[in-house]
Amino acid sequence: MNAKVSPQPNISAAQGDVVKASFPVRRMDFEFQQVPRYWADHDAGLTHFMTALSALFPDGEKFFVDSTRAVRNDPKLADPYMQKEISAFIGQEAMHSKEHLAFNAAAQAYGYDVRRLENMTGALIKNTTRVVGKLLKPFGFTQEMIGLTGTCALEHFTATIAAELLRNPEVQAMFKDQTMYRLWMWHAVEENEHKAVVFDVYATLYGRGPKAYSMRVAAMVLAMVFIFITQSYFTARLMKQDKKLTWKDTRYMIKFMYGRKGFMTRQIPELLAFFRPNFHPNDFDTDALLAQWKQKLGFVSA
Ligand SMILES: [Fe+2]
Ligand SMILES: [Fe+2]
Repeated sequence: MNAKVSPQPNISAAQGDVVKASFPVRRMDFEFQQVPRYWADHDAGLTHFMTALSALFPDGEKFFVDSTRAVRNDPKLADPYMQKEISAFIGQEAMHSKEHLAFNAAAQAYGYDVRRLENMTGALIKNTTRVVGKLLKPFGFTQEMIGLTGTCALEHFTATIAAELLRNPEVQAMFKDQTMYRLWMWHAVEENEHKAVVFDVYATLYGRGPKAYSMRVAAMVLAMVFIFITQSYFTARLMKQDKKLTWKDTRYMIKFMYGRKGFMTRQIPELLAFFRPNFHPNDFDTDALLAQWKQKLGFVSA
């Protein structure tokens, strides 16, 4: 089976030529102090749903960074272009962690214990990878393999959410605050810019045979179950802290997210594409969408 790798820029071997990553690391520094309490469609349910997602990011994206760093010195990844892509990926994810951490602190100031949700995410990742590592050790799986496999699956998850956000104006309309709009759309652009990096690292290290396939598929099943349960629990906790855990206050959010044409429901076919043996993130062409959004957000140089 031929591996589909991400398109590489023309790299001349001429002396002095600099190999560059295919996407930049943008330094962002949002101010969240003025963000209103119910910034998502003026609705508590939608706002808490998105805040629950945001609570997963600081430790989640740190896990992606750590897992990729742990393998990047493998000789199979010595190619300078691959190294640049990895560095840019790490740079983007570190910036996402930083900005979501700052937003989460602003949400905390409204009296929601988002800090605790972040800590719970960190503990969940640590415990899950440790338990899976112990269970699979006798079969020759290392902790590095488990971390990278989990990252590979979760990166498809984040790229899928992000692509839906970029292409669906009904979802974009929920952002009633400019800062939150820019935070989420910037993050969505970058998730799609770097969506193939970890997959390519994974395929370079572990190949595209049956073992590599079963590992990434098992990781995806586990990741989807854990994220659904954890994110729903976080949303419910935030709603409860807000004394709004009632059918009246949650039904709009449930329909918006999980209705027949809901934000999450619409992602199912693209999420399931990961289960195809010959899947590659670039099967979903988001180049035109990215060009459009980079212009819209004023990311002129890249
Ligand atoms: Fe990210
Ligand atoms: Fe990512």
